[in-house]
Amino acid sequence: MPGTTPYKQNWNALAATEESALLHVAGYADEAKLREATDITLEMLRITIGIQPDDTMLEIGCGVGRVGEHLAPLVRTWIGCDVADNMLKHAARRLAAHTNVQLVATNGYDLQAIPDASIDAVYCTVVFMHLEEWDRYAYVREAYRILRPGGRFFCDNANLESEEGWKLFQASAAFPPDSRPQHLSRCSTVPEITTYLRRAGFQNVQTITPGVWVVGWGRK
Ligand SMILES: C[S@@+](CC[C@H](N)C(=O)[O-])C[C@H]1O[C@@H](n2cnc3c(N)ncnc32)[C@H](O)[C@@H]1O
Repeated sequence: MPGTTPYKQNWNALAATEESALLHVAGYADEAKLREATDITLEMLRITIGIQPDDTMLEIGCGVGRVGEHLAPLVRTWIGCDVADNMLKHAARRLAAHTNVQLVATNGYDLQAIPDASIDAVYCTVVFMHLEEWDRYAYVREAYRILRPGGRFFCDNANLESEEGWKLFQASAAFPPDSRPQHLSRCSTVPEITTYLRRAGFQNVQTITPGVWVVGWGRK
């Protein structure tokens, strides 16, 4: 169907129920563990791009609203974008108590519903491993377009150069090419992330590599 990407079909299927959605977002459906993981994500955002009370913040690939649930009370407006309408349904329920939240369905490769220069901070966490490299870069460019001058961008992925990232790579490589599942996580490297951010126009591009992650951020 024109306008439909494999991302949409795959992720709508994975998010058919809330439990299945949580399993594919986090690997578990335990709310206490989810909260612990979210505290780590919030801390990562604080030490990289910062979280300001006046911010309009947008998440690319927001899933069930794991981060939005706890970020919305800290900012002026939180916008969650996702390719899967089913994810957004779960997010709408999770975020129902918040009046400063908007949910937007994407086509899987751009943010066309979001006006130019309208957002203070954009982040994308635990999503790049599910995207083709071209689509990662497409979202970095879209983030640049929708950010106000001085706006901040954050992204992460599993780091191929870490021990855990290499294990992930080997686990995927173990599938014979003719029977690879549609969902295999794909790592990034520091030069890949740095290149996307710089090529998109971001300034002050920085990276860190905590544990399995490569984290990149920059300013428009
Ligand atoms: C592992 S989950 C992470 C969700 C959320 N960022 C979090 O950390 O809780 C990956 C999310 O990316 C979304 N996604 C996958 N491909 C996408 C694409 N091409 N464009 C936008 N979202 C996408 C999925 O629907 C899913 O909600």
